[in-house]
Amino acid sequence: HAQGVVEGSKFDFTEVKAGVDADHHVAQGYDADVLLRWGDKIFADAPEFDPANQSEAAQERQFGYNNDFVGFIALDDADDHGLLVVNHEYTNEHLMFPGIIKVTDGDISIAEATEDRVNIEMAAHGGSVVEIRKVDGKWQPVLEGKQNRRITAKTEMEIAGPAAGHARMQTNADPSGTKVLGTINNCAGGVTPWGTYIMAEENFHGYFIGELPADHREAANYERVGVPGGSYDWGKFHDRFDLSKEPNEPNRFGWIVEVDVNDPNSTPKKRTALGRFKHEGAESAVAKDGRVVFYLGDDERFDYVYKFVTTGTYNPDDRAANMDLLDDGILYVARFDEDGSVTWLPLVQGEGPLTAENGFESQADVLIETRRAADLLEATPMDRPEDIQPNADTGRAYVMLTNNTKREEANAANPRVDNAFGHIIEIVEDNEDIAATKGTWEILVQCGDPSIAEVGATFSTETTEDGWFGMPDNCAIDSDGRLWVSTDGNSPSKTGRTDGLWAMDTEGAARGTSRLFYRVPIGAELCGPCPTADMSTFFVAVQHPADGGEDWEEFGRPSYYEDLSTRWPDFDDAMPVRPSVVAITKQGGGKIG
Ligand code: FEO
Ligand code: CA
Ligand code: CA
Ligand code: CA
Repeated sequence: HAQGVVEGSKFDFTEVKAGVDADHHVAQGYDADVLLRWGDKIFADAPEFDPANQSEAAQERQFGYNNDFVGFIALDDADDHGLLVVNHEYTNEHLMFPGIIKVTDGDISIAEATEDRVNIEMAAHGGSVVEIRKVDGKWQPVLEGKQNRRITAKTEMEIAGPAAGHARMQTNADPSGTKVLGTINNCAGGVTPWGTYIMAEENFHGYFIGELPADHREAANYERVGVPGGSYDWGKFHDRFDLSKEPNEPNRFGWIVEVDVNDPNSTPKKRTALGRFKHEGAESAVAKDGRVVFYLGDDERFDYVYKFVTTGTYNPDDRAANMDLLDDGILYVARFDEDGSVTWLPLVQGEGPLTAENGFESQADVLIETRRAADLLEATPMDRPEDIQPNADTGRAYVMLTNNTKREEANAANPRVDNAFGHIIEIVEDNEDIAATKGTWEILVQCGDPSIAEVGATFSTETTEDGWFGMPDNCAIDSDGRLWVSTDGNSPSKTGRTDGLWAMDTEGAARGTSRLFYRVPIGAELCGPCPTADMSTFFVAVQHPADGGEDWEEFGRPSYYEDLSTRWPDFDDAMPVRPSVVAITKQGGGKIG
């Protein structure tokens, strides 16, 4: 037994020391190798990254910014050759563009955007599909890969499913209501059982500016989702992000996007049947009867947990037969009751309060205003639902609830007021059937430092001072059914540690025991944990390194391109800090964990 192994644990590795520094760290006996960095070529003919002279055209041929979801789609059933699919959630201008930071009397601000800068930002959003292969034990991108692709905030997409073509989806540029340019703020995602890539549109509200025309019908709809958020200047150069010019455009974001990775020219489809909200991810599994179930978090304080069950069944022998499964099914929202039961409430037009009198004249209306429909069904407001991972073998699903410092009233499923550190709920679906409409639930763990009584953390007593974490965000279940959790928000001031990847026991005597496997450089969060089927590789996404938040005074000014807390992963003064995907393998080969 390795040092520190816990009785009954399914994990057997020596834990990393929690802490804070400029580098990343993996458990002893493992290698963590940077595989793809922002700006890396993903086509043989792409230009080399030149950070001081970045252009839209170059960025469209290079790996995008802020890698979040990572999926691995094996080619030829191999564990050493496949397509890596990666979301590029958002851009951090202060870390990307030299010379745009202004300091006036100690106040830091960013120079107003130019059109060129906006177009680079748009090209750095979206996703990448990159063929990768393991050569002599190390992964490398295959730049000649026939399926390699960049998807950006300008890629043409089809709007599919019940809301396609609806009047509320139509714009001046697209009177058909079926064609939209781009996808934005793709946080987590998924890979379907039939091998397509799912990109979830999360904080889409931030990209819009301007005012709706007076008495516009979308006013309440947009208020519920925070449109216009005004975090980006895109609307100054692209009318569709300005509400006064294209008032319906925000209805065309906030969806689940499906990409057929087999054809790099395929048109990605926004699958409206899965609802419109701040989608964190869409992890799926095949239910016992062959229907496919997608678990969906809506990441906002007091928003909801959803799942989508396809009407059709998965055909493992005919990929083409599955390609439109996501256009037809039932979207449910969860009510977590005090008695430990969960009921999945169908969001179906005409049922219960989802009537024309309440403004839902069609299923398109229900889907465009998913949150308002769920409000009327009295779903349970949660502490920011992030990634949710189902395990079809056990009929369980793990819900990451990242935090909610605005909660003043607790309920059974969100038991802490001022919930700074988040918690994880384990759902047990009835009859171990993930398509069930009822189940039970338990809190797997309340996060935070167990040595501070007021925090109310509930990690097992075997969890070490390195093993606890706050703010669970993404998760993965490996082929042995073991849960891995990555975090967003640990920092020197909040938890005395950076974010990382934690191994979490869910069964037997070790249930609730967590151990630190990998940690990120200062300022980063960790996204996209993705194990290969044979568990020989764990891909992880280090997002926004050096974006130090409230710790900048102590650990270096995050907003200075010239004076960062870390220059990971290149540690080269000529290079900016770069979000990157890392491949973790065991030295000498073998199964991780
Ligand atoms: Fe993009 Fe919910 O984190
Ligand atoms: Ca996330
Ligand atoms: Ca996941
Ligand atoms: Ca998060």
